[in-house]
Amino acid sequence: MEETLVLIKPDGVKRQLCGEILSRYERKGLEIKAMKLLQTPQELAEEHYAEHKDKPFFGELVDFITSGPVLAFILGGQNAVASVRAINGATNPLDATPGSIRGDYALTLDSNVVHASDSAESAAREMKLWFPEYK
Ligand code: PPS
Repeated sequence: MEETLVLIKPDGVKRQLCGEILSRYERKGLEIKAMKLLQTPQELAEEHYAEHKDKPFFGELVDFITSGPVLAFILGGQNAVASVRAINGATNPLDATPGSIRGDYALTLDSNVVHASDSAESAAREMKLWFPEYK
C-alpha cells in the first residue's frame, strides 16, 4: 500500500469540481485516508513549492494556491503515486489526454485544477507538511 498527497486547487474548488474529481479516484479503487478544506497559509504554500523557489513562476504558484480554499487529501492504494498522476494527466493541460482530469477540465498551466505528489519521497514530505497530525 502506497499513499500520496493530492490537492484540488482553488480553481477546482471554485468551479465545484470536487465531487467529480474525487469520484474518479474512488472509482479507480483509491481510498481516502484523510481530508480537509483549508485556506493555505503563506508559509505552507512556500514550503510546499520550495523546490521551485528559484523559478520565475514561483510567486505565481504561491499566489495561486493561496488565492482560495483548497481540498487537501491523502489517497492510499497500490501504486497510488503513479495511479493518481495518470488520472490527473500531464502537468500542462495542452499535453493532457482527454479523459484525464486536466485533459477534461483545464486549459492552462497556471490553473491546472489538481496537484499530486510526483514520487514516493515527495509524497512523504508533502503528507507531513499538509497533514502533520496524520499517523
Ligand atoms: S510537476 O507536476 O511537479 O512534475 O510539474 P513541474 O513542471 O515541475 O511544475 C511544478 C508546478 O509548477 C507549475 N508550473 C507553472 N505555473 C505557472 N507558470 C508556469 N510557467 C509553470 N510551469 C509549471 C505546475 O502547474 C506545477 O504545479 P503543481 O501544483 O506541482 O501541479
